[in-house]
Amino acid sequence: MSGHGTPIAMSSAKSGPLTGTANVPGDKSISHRALILGAMAVGETRITGLLEGEDVLDTARAMRAFGADVTDLGEGAWAVHGVGVGGFSEPDGVIDCGNSGTGVRLIMGAMATSPITVTFTGDASLNKRPMARITDPLALFGTQAVGRAGGRLPMTIVGAAEPVPVRYTVPMPSAQVKSAVLLAGLNAPGQTVVIEREATRDHTERMLEGFGAEITTEATEEGHVITLTGQPELKPQTIAVPRDPSSAAFPVCAALIVPGSDVLVPGIGLNPTRAGLFTTLREMGAHLSYENERSEGGEPVADLRARFSPDLKGIEVDPARAASMIDEYPVLSVVAAFAEGATVMRGVAELRVKESDRIEAMASGLRANGVEVEEGDDWWIVHGLGHGNVPGGADTASHLDHRIAMSFLILGMAANAPVGVDDGSPIATSFPIFEPLMAHLGARITRTA
Ligand code: S3P
Repeated sequence: MSGHGTPIAMSSAKSGPLTGTANVPGDKSISHRALILGAMAVGETRITGLLEGEDVLDTARAMRAFGADVTDLGEGAWAVHGVGVGGFSEPDGVIDCGNSGTGVRLIMGAMATSPITVTFTGDASLNKRPMARITDPLALFGTQAVGRAGGRLPMTIVGAAEPVPVRYTVPMPSAQVKSAVLLAGLNAPGQTVVIEREATRDHTERMLEGFGAEITTEATEEGHVITLTGQPELKPQTIAVPRDPSSAAFPVCAALIVPGSDVLVPGIGLNPTRAGLFTTLREMGAHLSYENERSEGGEPVADLRARFSPDLKGIEVDPARAASMIDEYPVLSVVAAFAEGATVMRGVAELRVKESDRIEAMASGLRANGVEVEEGDDWWIVHGLGHGNVPGGADTASHLDHRIAMSFLILGMAANAPVGVDDGSPIATSFPIFEPLMAHLGARITRTA
């Protein structure tokens, strides 16, 4: 839903050792896709472990508005009775995707090749984000879009009545764009081909295969060439959503910087297109191990064990890894503040168009808390002060961005003075149990208003 109601001011303070088990919620990317593909299958898809954060609940509401029967069975179990590819009906009202770029972009793709007209909106953060990256490729199918200046929401999409298949090279590393084109390709006749130069999260491809679509990925000199055969009958699935590596990042990073910590984060999805942060942390000298590695529902999974790491070193993060950790740079920058030396992050222009401009949001909050940060259009450098030397003591702004809010709260747990966040309400979009979960581990985190 648009807006997040009253802002929730929060603060965190130097915490005792963090210990115990952190059961983080289900994967946000996989949760959106399970609901959308469930709605496009014929028959009943069962989902367990769904993330019940605001972003995903907005997608559930949207799927109902398109005619699917979506039922909350309790404790993360959901049933989706789909209407089939091309079976979406025209919603009566506006589709409000709240804070969720993934939700709105994937749903635009899914409806773009059906003869229906849909108006989308979101909260103040989402309504600032670029949508032309979606509507440009959708136009190739015959879809029309009318939005605000600069291709912003609110925006009306007129689905193509007689869609044609497309061949499209994604110009930026974006799984949302790739996925929107693939979902649109589902209801186009013939083969839709998407080429991505840099590999991004591949949950859509894996799940489409699971639902019975004909889809292949070929590694070529051009990049990954993904070919989807349109107008399949998708078969309903039983989907167990793994726990979210992007949420696991918060208790893991907190444990690395809070003295004496030892935290187990079980059942984390470690799809290689998502696990870049953990590789990076290990390169920095983190005491982080994978235990009980296994495969669940077509995704690699392990239990993560993170312990206090007093000898973290700044590194140059491999830019080739950026897409596999794109949501984790904010919290990485917090860990970098406690490392010795500079952590250099390049090839990250996409960070400027997330729920907030994440380079700007983190750089200003870190600087206010005594950490030197340099930045350019697509790079930034955090000059680490080493363990025990981060001053803290300042208020920060979350800019309606859940990951910025959580990152600064992690900073406060190990800084020398408390760190405030003006509005922690967006945390509910992706990690609604963040506060009790962190408090249970021993974090000092409070609501201040
Ligand atoms: C997502 C893709 C990424 C990521 C977002 C989730 C997805 O966005 O930042 O949180 O589920 O496809 P981009 O596609 O803009 O890189």
